[in-house]
Formats: sequence, C-alpha cells, structure tokens
Amino acid sequence: MTFEAGSDAHKEFFCRQFTDTYQDYDPETLPWPDLDPAALARLRGVPFWQEVYHTERRAGAIVDAFTPHVTDPTVRAAVALQGMEETRHAKLIRVMIDRYGIDATEQPLETFPDDLETAFIDFGFGECLDAFLGFGAFKTARQSEFLPAAMFDIFDVLMFEETRHIVFFINYMAWREKRRGHTAPARAIKSAWFYGRAARRLLGMVRRGQDANNGRDFAVTQTEMFLDGFSFRQFVEDCYRENARRMSAFDPDLMQPRLLPAVADLALRGLQLWDRTRHGLRRAA
Ligand SMILES: [Fe+2]
Ligand SMILES: [Fe+2]
Repeated sequence: MTFEAGSDAHKEFFCRQFTDTYQDYDPETLPWPDLDPAALARLRGVPFWQEVYHTERRAGAIVDAFTPHVTDPTVRAAVALQGMEETRHAKLIRVMIDRYGIDATEQPLETFPDDLETAFIDFGFGECLDAFLGFGAFKTARQSEFLPAAMFDIFDVLMFEETRHIVFFINYMAWREKRRGHTAPARAIKSAWFYGRAARRLLGMVRRGQDANNGRDFAVTQTEMFLDGFSFRQFVEDCYRENARRMSAFDPDLMQPRLLPAVADLALRGLQLWDRTRHGLRRAA
C-alpha cells in the first residue's frame, strides 16, 4: 500500500513508523570498551568532538524549541521524540568525552530566530547532508580499524537514529509542502536551495575546524590512518552504497531522501566516463 504524500494516512504512517522504531537506552550504561593507550590517543586526537557535541546540543535545542509550535498532535509527538533523542545524543557524546578524557568544552548556544519552523527545516536538510557524508566517513573509519569494533557498535546506534531522523524529516517535508499546495517541481527546487545552504554551513564549519587545528599534530599523524589509500571515488561510492543499505531497513512505503543519492550516482557515472575517456586517450597516444 502506498500513500499519497500529504494525506492524513501518510502522516499517521510516517509518524507511527518513527515512534515504533524508538530504542530505549541510557548512554551511561552502554557497553563502552576499555581502550589501550594507542586507541585512546587516536580517539583523543580526533579534532571534531567539540563540534559534534555542540551540533547535538544545538539539535536538541532547535527541535525542542520547535515542538510546541507544531499544531498537529501526531506530528508534535514525533517531533518531541526526536528532540529527546537529539538531547540523548549530546549526552552520549558527553559521556564519551568524560569517560575517555577528551578535550572538548561546552560552547554557548546561539539564540534561534522567531521563525522556528524555518530553523527546523534548515536543520533537517543539514542532517540529511551530514548523514549522507557521515555514512561514507563511518564506513572508512570502521574499515581502517581506527578504534575497536565495540566503539563503532555504539556509534552505530547514533547513526541508526540519525537515519530515522532524516527519513522522518523527508516525509514531514513532503506532507507539509503538499498540504500547502506546493507541486513536486517546486518542492525539488526548495530542497536544492536548502541543501545549498546546508553545504555552505558545512564548508564554513570545516574551515573553522582547519583553523582551530592548525599547528596540531592531527593533520599529519591521525588522518593518515583514515586516509591511507583514500580515494574520492571510493568515498562517494561508500556514501551511496551505505545510504542504500541503511535505507533498506525502513518500510519501503516511507519516502526517502532522493536528491543526494542521485547527485552521487551522477558523479560516479561522470567519474567512470572520465576514466574510460582517459584510458581511451592514453591508448590512442
Ligand atoms: Fe543527533
Ligand atoms: Fe538527528
């Protein structure tokens, strides 16, 4: 059975899917592994824990602030659950920071604009972009055995919840836009515009991170382990495949993010074509 996007049946379905797949756990009592000194040094050397911690706290604050403004009670309950999960993500990162003695401090949160729905939508598209790139990065880090598997199992709980969030968000957006009478092409243009904003924000964050880490050893010693044999094409392929694998865990009647996988697919085809052309030119020469 497939639902018409924007219908009440669609709304009930995507909200129920979201709340039914909730997992109960306490970050404090997760099976945190003991790390040997080398693994501990690698974990502490990761330069972005402070940013991750801040992002999760900010996520919880935005979603919580938006929750009382959602008029539909079913949607409001689902958004409230997401807010609780984001706050728990922040707690999970905090537990890890304390347990392993990671150097990361709490940054003040910005005040949010009056238009909290736009803040929520901006945040949602940001999550879609972060998650898609995160799928590939997570696979690379896991394969490189940068940390023990038990640590990745814990992060996997977080990744699963982020995937749930973006599936919920995509359905929420389709439902919201359809109710406002926006057509599919208009929705696609709007998505692209919001993705553009998310990408600019992400680039700004990367630049700030580079500045903050200038002069630290991480760039040379730690990234080598991640990036040993790193290939851009492999990364895009990993993002694409991992996205498909993680999305396959969800009910096929739910709408899923389409734009980023399509862009990645296009990029991969372009790279393939470029490779073939290059080989052809080399042979001709
Ligand atoms: Fe989160
Ligand atoms: Fe999230």
